[in-house]
Amino acid sequence: MAHLVTLIPGDGIGPEVTDATRLVVEAAGVEIRWDVQDAGAAVMEREGTPLPDRVLESIARSRVALKGPITTPVGTGFRSVNVALRQELDLFAAVRPSRSVPGTPSRFTDVDLVVIRENTEDLYAGVEFERGSDELDRLRDEIRRLSGFEIAQDAGVTVKPISVSGTQRIVRFAFDYARGRGRRSITLGHKANIMRDSDGVFLFTAGVEAQFSPGVWFDEMQVDELALRLVTEPETLDVLLLPNLYGDILSDLCAGLVGGLGLAPGANMGWEYAVFEPVHGSAPDIAGRGVANPIAIIRSAGMMLEHLGEAGAADAIDRAVQSVVADGTVRTGDLGGSASTREMARAIADAVRQERD
Ligand code: NAI
Ligand code: MG
Repeated sequence: MAHLVTLIPGDGIGPEVTDATRLVVEAAGVEIRWDVQDAGAAVMEREGTPLPDRVLESIARSRVALKGPITTPVGTGFRSVNVALRQELDLFAAVRPSRSVPGTPSRFTDVDLVVIRENTEDLYAGVEFERGSDELDRLRDEIRRLSGFEIAQDAGVTVKPISVSGTQRIVRFAFDYARGRGRRSITLGHKANIMRDSDGVFLFTAGVEAQFSPGVWFDEMQVDELALRLVTEPETLDVLLLPNLYGDILSDLCAGLVGGLGLAPGANMGWEYAVFEPVHGSAPDIAGRGVANPIAIIRSAGMMLEHLGEAGAADAIDRAVQSVVADGTVRTGDLGGSASTREMARAIADAVRQERD
């Protein structure tokens, strides 16, 4: 039976790379009924909101979406569609694999990392107090009374909440993920020595959960030390479990270790819904020219097929991407070649057909 999937082409290079992805998924022989739902900047002009209810209703039906990047307009009063989707669908885990593709121009050749990032709490929860506001004056008084600390008059404040319940679910998710894919270890990054009441909760809660999760080695490291390890011996690390902010920063770093944003896939997952999307944005500097690298979203589609139980097709796409990059005749500009998005997609689709024969 055909899988129902919501397809959000997105802004900028989004429509170009999602078109390319459909070619490849078709070649993989999986039947998909795409429910195409526009969202983003163009939709905002037409419908008055960048994320109309119909998009969420579609995902409520399909439970799975493939999404191109969406531009976050600056200074229009609209919140980011990406953040809104994560909140509305409770997509609490971001999963971002970084694996070396032989033949890619990059510093390392044997990296196989997965960042699992908590997606809802931490400094990204959106609890902020504006510099000079009445609210911040009241908060300043309360904090002086409670802790004796004097927040400077010219400071702005962002709050960092990390809960036991929010941590438990991301830890359980990470162990399920690691076990399901035969990964050997999970390394948690934190600064619990300094932020005892936020990172400390993350570390302590994860440590307790880990005792009930045999079969995967659990380890913890201060995040600065982890950053150093990542750029010196990334091959010694496996799954990284990180609170929101560190996860955001280190997942881009990990993408950089293996050849850049044009290759980096991702997923935002909850217990009910999953939205698959590349790590990169809408790339306005190259949009409309048909030169973007479609591999990041093609690999995201591969992760989606695995999630849908189509492991054979996911595997074929993976091997096809590897063989086209390794062969090197067809490469987009970011990989040092001059192929178009379409040419790259056709080459990968052809390789997928060969893999499946
Ligand atoms: P970006 O990822 O769009 O671009 C950064 C650089 O990487 C640019 O030079 C771009 O040309 C290049 N690049 C990105 N993807 C590429 C690809 N597939 N092939 C070849 N080159 C590629 O990041 P930027 O410029 O910071 O953001 C642009 C817009 O995208 C912003 O409005 C931002 O808010 C949004 N954005 C959306 C995301 C999402 O929808 N999940 C994620 C990140 C940014
Ligand atoms: Mg980021």
